[in-house]
Amino acid sequence: MRVLVVGGGAREHAIAEALHRSEADLLVASPNANPGLERLAVQSGRLDPADPAAVVAFARRYRAELAVLGPEAPLAAGVSDALRAAEIPTVGPSRAAAEIEWSKRFCREFLERHRLGPQPSFQILTKIEEVDAALARFPQPFVIKPSGLTAGKGVRVQGVDFASPSEGAVYAKSLILQGDSVVLEERLEGEEFSQMAFVTDSGVYPMPAVQDFKRALEGDRGGNTGGMGSYSQRDHLLPFLQPADRERAIDLLKGTAAALASEGRPFRGILYGGFMQTARGPVLVEFNARFGDPEGINVLTLYEEGNFDALLLGVAQGRVDPTLVGFRLRATVVKYVVPPGYGERPEPGGVLTLDLPRIEAEGVRVYYGSVEDLGGGRVRLGSGRGVALTGEASAIHEAAARVEAALPHIQGPFYVRHDIGTRENLTGKVEHLRRLLAPGAKSSPLPLSVAPPDHPASSAARPDQVL
Ligand code: AMP
Ligand code: GLY
Repeated sequence: MRVLVVGGGAREHAIAEALHRSEADLLVASPNANPGLERLAVQSGRLDPADPAAVVAFARRYRAELAVLGPEAPLAAGVSDALRAAEIPTVGPSRAAAEIEWSKRFCREFLERHRLGPQPSFQILTKIEEVDAALARFPQPFVIKPSGLTAGKGVRVQGVDFASPSEGAVYAKSLILQGDSVVLEERLEGEEFSQMAFVTDSGVYPMPAVQDFKRALEGDRGGNTGGMGSYSQRDHLLPFLQPADRERAIDLLKGTAAALASEGRPFRGILYGGFMQTARGPVLVEFNARFGDPEGINVLTLYEEGNFDALLLGVAQGRVDPTLVGFRLRATVVKYVVPPGYGERPEPGGVLTLDLPRIEAEGVRVYYGSVEDLGGGRVRLGSGRGVALTGEASAIHEAAARVEAALPHIQGPFYVRHDIGTRENLTGKVEHLRRLLAPGAKSSPLPLSVAPPDHPASSAARPDQVL
């Protein structure tokens, strides 16, 4: 099958690898020459992935039988609608269904309208004059975010990114001045996780849960980024996530898919729920309408060989064969190699030399992102996330150790978060939730309920088995 992959990052490289394992012929439409995609593609073109006419012309010219949209910008620009109008089956929701991602305001109001959740309490601000009074009244701590797309970098959290409501007001007003609406919402406390699913007319087909590390620096300090790395656990849960809570997250994906269809916005693509696991269970932070980056890399690495093109064609056409949805029972860790200063002031241009045979000998896969190929294993870093290193093992900390063992085989100026997936880091997450659940824990503004008795939080830690 001739499959068009739209986008040029490490997530798209991972999508392409999974398709390549299914022996699909790959077409690639991306703004940059990604070294991984260039190697796999039978045909690649430099174009703006968010330009519907250009993508359709490319797809037609090379007779694409299926298109897969990687990033969010093409979804918001209506590229999936244009491809469908050209009768090319497409993995990626319509612009109308993807509004769940590209408008945080729509997302919050949609969930409220359909009584879906749980979600944090929120208020939408559209006028500069209302900001001061609204922030003074809203229960603290809170979070301020622009409604529109910001590649995960627009959110400011009280107590982390700013202190007082008046400091927050400066930011909120600047967003309104730029023409956006502001979503003011309750700050959730807990551990975040991403639950993605293939969604189409025939149902919702979940993937393994993943935890992303959004902050630039070790110890979750520094600015919010698109994600510095991520891990998934062998049993498709997470060290702090019990089966019943994962099921609640999946139920929200199902309810959301049904509600979108009921509004005449049927969803055919990947629905990504970003959740906060709180003392009262999972609460929805945001929806995305695509594979996460890096989370998509974790799950795509685990996809059982051979049938990815058939699975994606099913998603695009509305009917999935559930036997094609299969992920290995293994742990994965992804770490992004990024330019020094990434997250604040990245210093692009550094040249990395990758000793690929040695990296692969550690059992680590390499997915290329924002890099330029210089030949001979050398790449030049751009200002975005450069190379995603992916380890697989039976336990998360072993997968992380594999990635760490590969790092000495990369020479040049780069930054990477060494703390992702270490035993200590994972134990800290389990302890964090245990503290939130402890009797007498600082009361949250949420109406808390304790974990169901069959899944007490104290059983969340099973370090010897799973970490
Ligand atoms: P978003 O773009 O909505 O996913 O937000 C990016 C990141 O900001 C999230 O992954 C969280 O780390 C943080 N964040 C967003 N909303 C909240 C919230 N209500 N409470 C706490 N943290 C949040
Ligand atoms: N890693 C977060 C995202 O893909 O939005």
